[in-house]
Amino acid sequence: MTDFDQMPKRQGTNSIKWQVKDGELPMWIADMDFAVSPAIIAAIKQKLELKAFGYEEIPDEYYQAVAAWYEKIHDYRPDPSWMIFVTGVVPAITSAVKRLTHVGDKVLVQAPVYNMFYHSIENTGRHVLSSDLQYDQATTRYHVDWEDLEEKLADPLTNMMIFCNPHNPTGHVWSRDEVMRIASLCAKHQVVLFSDEIHGDLTFDQAYTPVFSLPDELKQHAVIAVSPSKTFNVAALHAATVIVPNSNLRAQVSRGLNSDELAEPNLAAIPGTIAAYTQSNQWYHDLLDYLAINRQLVQKELADTPIKVSKEAGTYLLWLDISQFSHDSAAFSKFLREKTGLILSAGDVYGANGHDFVRMNVAAPRKLVADGLTRLKRGVQLWQKQG
Ligand SMILES: Cc1ncc(COP(=O)(O)O)c(C=O)c1O
Repeated sequence: MTDFDQMPKRQGTNSIKWQVKDGELPMWIADMDFAVSPAIIAAIKQKLELKAFGYEEIPDEYYQAVAAWYEKIHDYRPDPSWMIFVTGVVPAITSAVKRLTHVGDKVLVQAPVYNMFYHSIENTGRHVLSSDLQYDQATTRYHVDWEDLEEKLADPLTNMMIFCNPHNPTGHVWSRDEVMRIASLCAKHQVVLFSDEIHGDLTFDQAYTPVFSLPDELKQHAVIAVSPSKTFNVAALHAATVIVPNSNLRAQVSRGLNSDELAEPNLAAIPGTIAAYTQSNQWYHDLLDYLAINRQLVQKELADTPIKVSKEAGTYLLWLDISQFSHDSAAFSKFLREKTGLILSAGDVYGANGHDFVRMNVAAPRKLVADGLTRLKRGVQLWQKQG
């Protein structure tokens, strides 16, 4: 069993997450407080021992490793010839928006959603069009308003949809039917479906459906991005893969990535990714077990509080409904940090009903999660007292 109770000490190491005051506890940005799999560290060390930092190409072994991972874990082998290396998922999204849509076009998202999607759209002069996800407070789950989605995809100015599969921050894991329906609507209205599948490996009791596993006709207009960065906690490796089954679309995406200078790996990216996908299987399964217990702990500890924990089945980012005592997640998060030192993500940055939520990253040793929950409960009491 991998020991996830120990954590690397990251204060003073340029970590964005751990640049905090003494006594503060950061549980916001999406990296984990776990040591990376030993196989990844060994592969990168071996590379460093060469003492050479030259320009690199992508070996076939890299694409084979990606394909084998999806075949082993998700029962579908994407064809390595569909793949292009890229230095990150967000850079790939921005590049695809620039290459495949025009200034002034609309790009559809499903808010509340990962806030970088908004930046990729707006910083390139396109407009965000959201078909907001509908929240059911009784079940704490989200669903699509299909009529609204189709109407917005049918808008002649909507040329791309950025789909978060599974969905950050709500944790929604799309069923195969939902993924098929979304892909069909995009095909019907000739909208490119950009599916960000970075959280695909981290689901609990519900399988994720890769868009590249859909029937042939539905994936012809799709661009899928995957990465080991969330699964294996290797964000700064800057390694991701775009998968584009259609050869014409792939050529356009490839042109975009190359002209944006996003297709060249640093020296750790290739050995690190291959070691993640081919030699870290046990680490990954131990991680899923550990995270499942952390997720249950949060449900249990917050059960008797005014916070409702979303029961959606994906990611280690828990989506906490605070609407019983606040509709201003930014103000509550600020208060929480000041009074208890706990740092969570305020949900308002994700749009739609995000202002009723905070997001808690539970990929941390259990004692940290327990500490976070104690602080959170105290923060809620103090907030309610101040009235
Ligand atoms: C949905 C989603 N996409 C992309 C990223 C970041 O990807 P990258 O670091 O490869 O740009 C994140 C990080 O939290 C994410 O949640």
